[in-house]
Amino acid sequence: MPTDVLDRIRVNSHVPRHVAVIMDGNGRWASRRGLPRHAGHWEGMKAVREAVEAACAAGVEILTLFAFSTENWKRPRSEIDALMALLRAYAEKERERLARTGVEARVLGEVDRLDPPSREAVRRIEERTRGGSVLRLNLMVSYGAREELVRAARTLAAQARDGRLDPESIDARTLERALFTAGLPDPDLLIRTSGEFRISNFMLWQLAYTELYIASAYWPDFTREDFYAAILDYQRRERRFGRVTAG
Ligand code: IPE
Ligand code: IPE
Ligand code: MG
Repeated sequence: MPTDVLDRIRVNSHVPRHVAVIMDGNGRWASRRGLPRHAGHWEGMKAVREAVEAACAAGVEILTLFAFSTENWKRPRSEIDALMALLRAYAEKERERLARTGVEARVLGEVDRLDPPSREAVRRIEERTRGGSVLRLNLMVSYGAREELVRAARTLAAQARDGRLDPESIDARTLERALFTAGLPDPDLLIRTSGEFRISNFMLWQLAYTELYIASAYWPDFTREDFYAAILDYQRRERRFGRVTAG
């Protein structure tokens, strides 16, 4: 595979700059096989590798993966522990490969809520991959869009209180600079796997005009071909941003 698919993607010219993914369905993937949920999460690591490689090959600049939500803290302790162990394992195993292939990894979210070994793993993967210029990979961990917006409000309020920000000057860009995604363009394409049609508190601000793509595959079964299929589908869309079609 899939030079022809990649050719088709490139020929269409407007490759999405920023692709975000809600990686969903790990638990159901495992249950279907009579396996514990954490087996699905571990299997999902392969799909992460595929998505990263596919994004690089297709010419995507930014890949943002929703790995653990604020609400996921309400899951059983054993599952949270498994997900944190997976984060550490991913950072350990993939760090070198990512650095070698020019991927700059960042972990965005309330990282201070992670246990110290996981925070250290985050620090190490970010440090090792800093400066990678092929792909920016955002791993959204302990991330919730409402919390992100609340934090931004708090930051701006504190700046205003201290006389460093004029409330009248606050506009969309001021707020964007206070989000975890400061400095990044909004996602062009959002993929959610496992056939669920919801946003689940993901990037509520940033997704305002993002094209949505729901894939039926559970995340561990999501292949690079599925990733390319999502991009090809995106390339057939007409993005209007509230305007009328030209001509
Ligand atoms: C996605 O898979 C991974 C996380 C949310 C951490 P799930 O764990 O949500 O799997 P399902 O949706 O229950 O199948
Ligand atoms: C969203 O999936 C969060 C991540 C993929 C990390 P969930 O499985 O937590 O979302 P809901 O509960 O189905 O909405
Ligand atoms: Mg789920």
